[in-house]
Amino acid sequence: MNGEPLLTVTDLTVRYGGVVAVDNVSLTVPTGKIVGLIGPNGAGKTTLVDALTGFVRCSGTVSFRGVRIDRLRAHLRARHGIARTFQAGGIFDDLTVRENILIGERRPGGWWSTVRAIVTGRGEHARPETRALVGTLGLGDLLGVQASELSSGQRKLVSVAQALAGGPELVLLDEPAAGLDSTESAWLGERLRAVRDSGVTMLLVDHDMELVVNVCDEIVVLDFGKVIAAGEPQETLAQPQVITAYLGSVTAATEGDAA
Ligand SMILES: Nc1ncnc2c1ncn2[C@@H]1O[C@H](COP(=O)(O)OP(=O)(O)OP(=O)(O)O)[C@@H](O)[C@H]1O
Ligand SMILES: [Mg+2]
Repeated sequence: MNGEPLLTVTDLTVRYGGVVAVDNVSLTVPTGKIVGLIGPNGAGKTTLVDALTGFVRCSGTVSFRGVRIDRLRAHLRARHGIARTFQAGGIFDDLTVRENILIGERRPGGWWSTVRAIVTGRGEHARPETRALVGTLGLGDLLGVQASELSSGQRKLVSVAQALAGGPELVLLDEPAAGLDSTESAWLGERLRAVRDSGVTMLLVDHDMELVVNVCDEIVVLDFGKVIAAGEPQETLAQPQVITAYLGSVTAATEGDAA
């Protein structure tokens, strides 16, 4: 039901050798909401998404609809209804937009049915929901275009469509607005709200604060792997520890430039 916890994360920690990339993080993503996950570069956002989706080992617990999933392999978490995008894109250059989206669909015939559809060129989408999604994301005119021909903004949209094509209950988006200009980003924000209103819950990682403030129902701020603030977007961004975390990262970058 809307507002009830869909994803509950408790004391999640990820270590890479001596580096604690995610440090004892607890958070909740309520059903039907968009939760923003923000923080300076290297704060641990992608690592947390990797841990939630089964791409990296973690300690702590992750429950989805009240069921522990933290020991499940990535494909089983996907089967539970969790999808994600990748910061680096995650789409296939040699395939068309249609084929890339088709890969995200969970077909009754499984993976082989997708491969067969692509190899035989019969790439019709099985699910009417996917066709609606293509319309919502404005990708209708690009379906036949090879992914290598797309702009970086268009690639991001295809990766979002690919993640949503499986009909997930929860989607984790890792910087979907990277590479988009401010108009495109505002447009993406509207689309994400439409997707949320259609019943998909989201965890949105992005550096575009305008997007985050405009679309997120609440935000969680990470710094050096720890949650330093959480709550309503505007209020949370105004908290001193959040400002300091971002100023610190700006100062470090400026000093780095000077060196
Ligand atoms: N595979 C890895 N091996 C070792 N250290 C890693 C690895 N991936 C990330 N890290 C380290 O973990 C920390 C968190 O990195 P992560 O990529 O999760 O940050 P992020 O918040 O997504 O940053 P950005 O905003 O730049 O995408 C950083 O210190 C990073 O250097
Ligand atoms: Mg990242």
